[in-house]
Amino acid sequence: MSKKIKTIGVLTSGGDAPGMNAAIRAVVRKAIGNGVNVKGIKRGYQGLLAEEIVDMEAHSVSDIIQRGGTLLGTARCKEFTTEEGQKKGADICRKHGIDGVVVIGGDGSYRGAQALSKQGINTIGIPGTIDLDIACTDYTIGFDTAVNTAMEAIDKVRDTSSSHERCSIIEVMGRNAGYIALWCGIANGAEDILLPEKYDFNEQQIINNIITNRKKGKTHHLIINAEGIGHSTSMARRIEAATGIETRATILGYMQRGGSPTCKDRYYASIMGAYAADILCEGKTNRVVGVKNGEFVDFDIDEALAMQKDISEYEYQVSSVLSGKTV
Ligand code: ADP
Ligand code: F6P
Repeated sequence: MSKKIKTIGVLTSGGDAPGMNAAIRAVVRKAIGNGVNVKGIKRGYQGLLAEEIVDMEAHSVSDIIQRGGTLLGTARCKEFTTEEGQKKGADICRKHGIDGVVVIGGDGSYRGAQALSKQGINTIGIPGTIDLDIACTDYTIGFDTAVNTAMEAIDKVRDTSSSHERCSIIEVMGRNAGYIALWCGIANGAEDILLPEKYDFNEQQIINNIITNRKKGKTHHLIINAEGIGHSTSMARRIEAATGIETRATILGYMQRGGSPTCKDRYYASIMGAYAADILCEGKTNRVVGVKNGEFVDFDIDEALAMQKDISEYEYQVSSVLSGKTV
């Protein structure tokens, strides 16, 4: 029989993502609705170790659902990757009467939650990352806002690229995962899409593609490059030298992590936040919530972290065919 949960904490950790505020709001209000007290832990695990802990009421999360970023702040904390740091974190939770913690973040943050659970503090993870790279869930909070922000920016670059008959390399976020690049590449009708999972570094093939398209009369050439491949500026210089076509690089950067969340992000964050609060209040621990085949579900963190997720070969092939490539 699990102990009765009286007080829970909530924190955001790792890279921020639009929709994290909606998730915090849902955790706070659902837990309070369940008769459980809530404390906000500021700046992720770093704030936990520094005891930056505040009481949260239903009104503490008013007027945040529409805001990007995270009300609680976020951080990366090296100390928490050590067993000593994890023990200290669990002791601080006990000192503040916190029986369980909802952790909103990516895979790294889940490992922290797993460690805290081993130290006797119940934990539930919520997938919050713009990268869509968490295997146990079909959706991660922030992805929809990020791809829409990037897509709109890329449309604008495309306009000027066509006017000047230039080639454009646009770098989108995704250090290890190419989902943002793939989705924008397809949605923006890019001629080439470079993903960390797929790119073979055959720049000559890109150069040949640009020359072939120019001969066919295309006035622009959009290359969507993922952050994990990077080097967009030097790539642009080499492509211009090889093709004789003016080539410019645009790095979209952190604008993709900010901004008001889309309806989809607010909705998923709200349901996942409420779900996480419910199972934590029930006394569950070491679990993560997610969405699979349209259903909200939860998994054991150990199992979730062992799952693999890959870019769909079919979707990647489609992107190539739709770009007009014959090979
Ligand atoms: P994300 O959660 O977005 O994947 P990170 O990988 O940067 O981001 O992880 C966020 C934080 O989670 C780290 O700064 C660290 O405090 C904690 N964390 C990451 N890996 C571990 C681990 N193996 N054990 C304990 N805590 C971890
Ligand atoms: O939030 C995910 C992400 O944007 C990744 O695409 C990228 O690798 C990482 O965060 C960069 O974050 P930071 O520069 O804050 O470490």
